Amino acid sequence: MNILLNRQSSEPVYLQIYNYLSRLIHSGKLQAGQKLPSIRGLSQNTQVNKLTVIEAYGLLEAEGLIHARPGSGYFVNHTTTSGFKLHSTFAPAQEVIISEKGGSFIEQYTASLQAQHYPDVIDFSSGFPRNFGLDHLQKIAKRAMTKSIDGLFRYDFPQGQLVLRQLIAQILVQQGLEVSPEEIIITNGSEQALSLTMQYYIQPGDWVIVETPTYHGALGILENLGAKVIGIPMTAEGMNLELLEIYLKSHRPKLIYTISTLHNPTGITTSQTHRQNLLALAQQYECRILEDNAYEGLNFEPVPAPIKALDINDLVIYISTFSKTLMPGLRVGYMVVTGEHNRHLIKQKTLHDMHVSTVSQAIVSEFLASGHYRRHLNRLRTSNLQSRNSMLQALELYFPESITWTIPKGGLFLWTHLPDYLPIQEICREALSYNILVANGAAFFPGGGYSAMRLNFCQTPENIEQGIEVLGRLLKKYLVSKLNIKTNEQKFKLVAC
Ligand SMILES: Cc1ncc(COP(=O)(O)O)c(C=O)c1O
Repeated sequence: MNILLNRQSSEPVYLQIYNYLSRLIHSGKLQAGQKLPSIRGLSQNTQVNKLTVIEAYGLLEAEGLIHARPGSGYFVNHTTTSGFKLHSTFAPAQEVIISEKGGSFIEQYTASLQAQHYPDVIDFSSGFPRNFGLDHLQKIAKRAMTKSIDGLFRYDFPQGQLVLRQLIAQILVQQGLEVSPEEIIITNGSEQALSLTMQYYIQPGDWVIVETPTYHGALGILENLGAKVIGIPMTAEGMNLELLEIYLKSHRPKLIYTISTLHNPTGITTSQTHRQNLLALAQQYECRILEDNAYEGLNFEPVPAPIKALDINDLVIYISTFSKTLMPGLRVGYMVVTGEHNRHLIKQKTLHDMHVSTVSQAIVSEFLASGHYRRHLNRLRTSNLQSRNSMLQALELYFPESITWTIPKGGLFLWTHLPDYLPIQEICREALSYNILVANGAAFFPGGGYSAMRLNFCQTPENIEQGIEVLGRLLKKYLVSKLNIKTNEQKFKLVAC
């Protein structure tokens, strides 16, 4: 293969190679399953260093366009997007919700945990990554255990292990967020980071802004704290900022809770401009931002740096986790807290549970330091992209036209919006009788009451095909029966007149 490189260009050579191959793949000139030139071959042909080719292939792999087969080389993925539209029709009504009710997180979480143990269940409801078995886990865990054995016989620092905080700081720099390890606090999953921060900033009766829909686990904490919630609707670009400003002015809330990258449940990632405007509004109305990017790292395409990267007034707390990229069972999350609040939040953490498990922290550190994490993420993104595409194809094929859905560029979920008259609770219950578990979208709205489903697309192609086919059949059945009821009601009205 001959690639014409412009060595005078300001564009780095590895990017030129990446762009050239990416174009060939997207245009179908390089087809699924086709082998790419070997690293040595391409480096000789193009007269560049082998590391340059490795860098370009690494980027293509991270984007899910190619994959490596050990000992055989690199191959083009089955990422074809033909057969389904890549344009989201997500355009929900822009209604603001004011509520003191959180939603039904605990009920849904418990029901989902129980249902996961049913034999042969197809689980579209959960929020965790595919289990690849993590080949190296045993070795990594053993090494981590050996290194941290002394620490197990002592209590550790509440802020978390320095090595881990240093490694996290390196990941964050790559995501465009420059922080020092001192500004990072390790928590028991990001749920604890949410809980500690919300408890720290919010008093009963305070107003808090959330996106609607939003992560139901956060709604549960807010309800527990006695907060009053203003749900600002999502648009396809993120939270509706015009409505946000109106409510910032009228209600003077204490906190804005936002998921700027790969939003749960819609999968939407906001643009750099949206982030700047959101922060500007928060500054103008002196409102803190809690940015919860639990799905950061699972993006198929480059994403802007977190809002925290733009924050020079210590207004933003940034939260993330290893639950979505490694394993939720380790319970390792973290928050970035700058300025005076850092000290206060470490105090809260100490009073809460002293510190996160020494072993869990050591295992995550070992994953990060050994380079396995980077490889694992690449594999996860490739597999997630293929699954997302399979699910989009199945939705086009089996779902009725009146249902719309988002097209997430990463993460684990897509969000389907149903006509409001469809009884979502009944549909979810009936789906479970066919062994299909879906997350009832009502739980993601303060006070519930909306008709939607969140679907985790990280499944095998067989499960996606089978599960979406059954869901599509159910939705059509309910649509027909509701339409019949409506028609009969109209007939009745005519007769009554
Ligand atoms: C947006 C968001 N934040 C936080 C969490 C909590 O995750 P963990 O406590 O496992 O880090 C989740 C889990 O689903 C989530 O989706």
